[in-house]
Parts: sequence; C-alpha cells; structure tokens
Amino acid sequence: MAKVTIIKRDGSELQVEADNGVSVMEAIRDNGVDELLALCGGCCSCATCHVYVDPAFADALGPLSDDENDLLDSSDHRTENSRLSCQLKVTDAIEGLRVTIAPED
Ligand code: FES
Repeated sequence: MAKVTIIKRDGSELQVEADNGVSVMEAIRDNGVDELLALCGGCCSCATCHVYVDPAFADALGPLSDDENDLLDSSDHRTENSRLSCQLKVTDAIEGLRVTIAPED
C-alpha cells in the first residue's frame, strides 16, 4: 500500500491509497481520473497513460523496458521524467510518489 499524489492536467491534486501489485495507471483510473485514457488497458502498446514521475523514485520504479522507451519516443511531450504508468507497479517503496499526467498527444 502506498500513498500516491496525482497531479491532473488542470493542476489540481488528488491523493490516493493504492494497493501493492496494481499498476500506477490502475490506481489513477480506479480513483476516477478519466483524463488518463490508458486505451490499451495496460499492455504497453498505446502510450496514453503517459505521466511524469518524481526522479527521486527512479530506483523504486525500476528501469524502462525497450517497449516503454520506444512508445515514449512517439510522444511530443516526452521528458527525462516520462514513464508509462501502466508499467509502474505500486509497492511500499513508492510511498509518497507524485505523478503528473502528461499533456495529451
Ligand atoms: S495503457 Fe497503453 S501503454 Fe499504458
């Protein structure tokens, strides 16, 4: 279980409690934030779950896969803090994570 703060596109913040084992994408969607489209349902093929993460959590979140990296390259809004939230698992180690929903491509 981890507390995660979601920063929406309008700048408003929502703090949620997410269960270990779900993806950050699922935690966002399950808490009613529907601006994160997550069109492929989490199989790493759409990039509509793009978020920016706090770099302090890079180790806890683990490295990007080649597929995630390639998909993020298709975004005009990629930054060094970009991740696909469906590829990020909730664990105790991400307690306090802040994720910002990236602009829509
Ligand atoms: S939901 Fe499609 S890549 Fe994450």
